[in-house]
Amino acid sequence: MAGRHTEARFEFYFRKNMTPQHIADMFDDFAEDYEQEYMNVGLRTHVVVGDFMAKTIPKESRPKVKILDVAAGTGLLGNELKNRGFTHIDALDPAEKMLNVARRRNIYQQLICAFMKKNRNDTIETDCYDSIVASAAVNEGLIPCDAFQEMIRIVKPGGRIIFTVPTKYINNSDNLRDRLLPLIYQLAQEGVWEVTSVALADGDLSSLNGPGTLFSLKVLVSEKTF
Ligand SMILES: C[S@@+](CC[C@H](N)C(=O)[O-])C[C@H]1O[C@@H](n2cnc3c(N)ncnc32)[C@H](O)[C@@H]1O
Repeated sequence: MAGRHTEARFEFYFRKNMTPQHIADMFDDFAEDYEQEYMNVGLRTHVVVGDFMAKTIPKESRPKVKILDVAAGTGLLGNELKNRGFTHIDALDPAEKMLNVARRRNIYQQLICAFMKKNRNDTIETDCYDSIVASAAVNEGLIPCDAFQEMIRIVKPGGRIIFTVPTKYINNSDNLRDRLLPLIYQLAQEGVWEVTSVALADGDLSSLNGPGTLFSLKVLVSEKTF
């Protein structure tokens, strides 16, 4: 049904009472216009994550790196990665019509229509990926904090989980407030991962979001339940 939850596309406050399925339906409703609408607000998170991957992984290693693009949407990040020489990329997203746009790009080897959440997805093996990347995906109503349990399981020990998050959502989102940073630093203390963080300036993520942080979490274990 067209036009559902249109106010929640950019006003994340309106996502507070939406279920995960409502959120996925909202993205499906504007899948064909997503890129134009997000370009209009200067979205460039995918470029930031693509640049970080290229800066940290030498050219000759890139074809060997197995990547899962979580909350891949229409494939903007996959496209950035492909342009930088990464060739083994899978996509995961719960919005089928977003994934249909991604599929047309012919970037991804496997497209998985699913939510990233705490529960185990039996279609994905343990210790499967070298890197998990997520752009514009850790904020209100999208990937929840407890989904890091599943991402830890599917990334190989020594692999990385890389994502960006706007500071205002670290502080204000029901999803993340008082949860994201304590979780990141608690699991670092427990030896589950090593944390690298890169400060992002106002405008780096989009014209809407203000400053933010890119996190690169080097996972040191095969699984961790919390
Ligand atoms: C703002 S878009 C970002 C898409 C893409 N990564 C980009 O940079 O353009 C957010 C995406 O997150 C997806 N999403 C929402 N909840 C999710 C979840 N729990 N797990 C994975 N993806 C989710 C939506 O379907 C949507 O495609």
